[in-house]
Amino acid sequence: MSIRFPFFSKKEKNVSNQHIQLKNVPSHVAVIMDGNGRWAKKRGFPRVAGHKEGMEATQRAVRAATKYNIKILTLFAFSTENWKRPNYEVNFLMKLPKEFLHIYLPELIEKNVRVETIGELSALPDFTKEAIEDAKEKTKDNDGLLLNFAINYGARFEIIQAVRKMIRDKNLSNYNLDEIDEEVFSNYLYTKGLSDPDLLIRTSGEKRLSNFLLWQCAYSEFWFTDTLWPDFTEDDFYEALINFQKRKRRYGGIE
Ligand code: FPP
Repeated sequence: MSIRFPFFSKKEKNVSNQHIQLKNVPSHVAVIMDGNGRWAKKRGFPRVAGHKEGMEATQRAVRAATKYNIKILTLFAFSTENWKRPNYEVNFLMKLPKEFLHIYLPELIEKNVRVETIGELSALPDFTKEAIEDAKEKTKDNDGLLLNFAINYGARFEIIQAVRKMIRDKNLSNYNLDEIDEEVFSNYLYTKGLSDPDLLIRTSGEKRLSNFLLWQCAYSEFWFTDTLWPDFTEDDFYEALINFQKRKRRYGGIE
């Protein structure tokens, strides 16, 4: 299966980031990859052309993350609210993980990347689930970047699901209520065992969380750019990291 659009122009900025200081890079970067539709509209293309081009930007972000020794990259690929889009667009979005992995899995393996997901995969078409499971299996022993796709992900649903799992979990019946703390609760989220995002990037100029990682972003640093996702380059990623390095993180305390 291949989805092709012949008419994309490649925008690459001059890369001037050869000397980034590798200390104090965020461990976990989460990205709301926004602006695909607007990118396409600006060019008179169908919206899905923006998603297709966004796929290339996704791999650029993966390359940047491996280059700068990021440990976890969580990408918002499809939200629980995205089902409201027209069928044609939803069907196209469902094909993208398979298309992406068909093209880039060899490079991910070569770069020691481990593929994982958060979200309710059960609702996805079989061909999407199979491509994802295959990538997870083939990369499960890799210990480089954890590439974590949020697919059919919604943070409120994740929290509701966590509560349901806790109620069903017989092991918790021995706990006093006061023992149910943030750490215990976190273990019932999709992100169990993962550190919280240090840096959240959102492209396209929108400045909201859109039901992404509500619990996990409690102390994340946010970086917003007007760049539309299909135009996002390694330089943009670098700029976000440099900006992050200047932040003073106090977690509600004082310096
Ligand atoms: C938001 O832009 C983007 C999405 C809902 C889809 C994200 C998908 C990709 C970036 C492609 C790569 C995905 C994989 C799985 C490799 P929008 O459509 O809401 O843009 P708009 O706000 O300009 O309309």
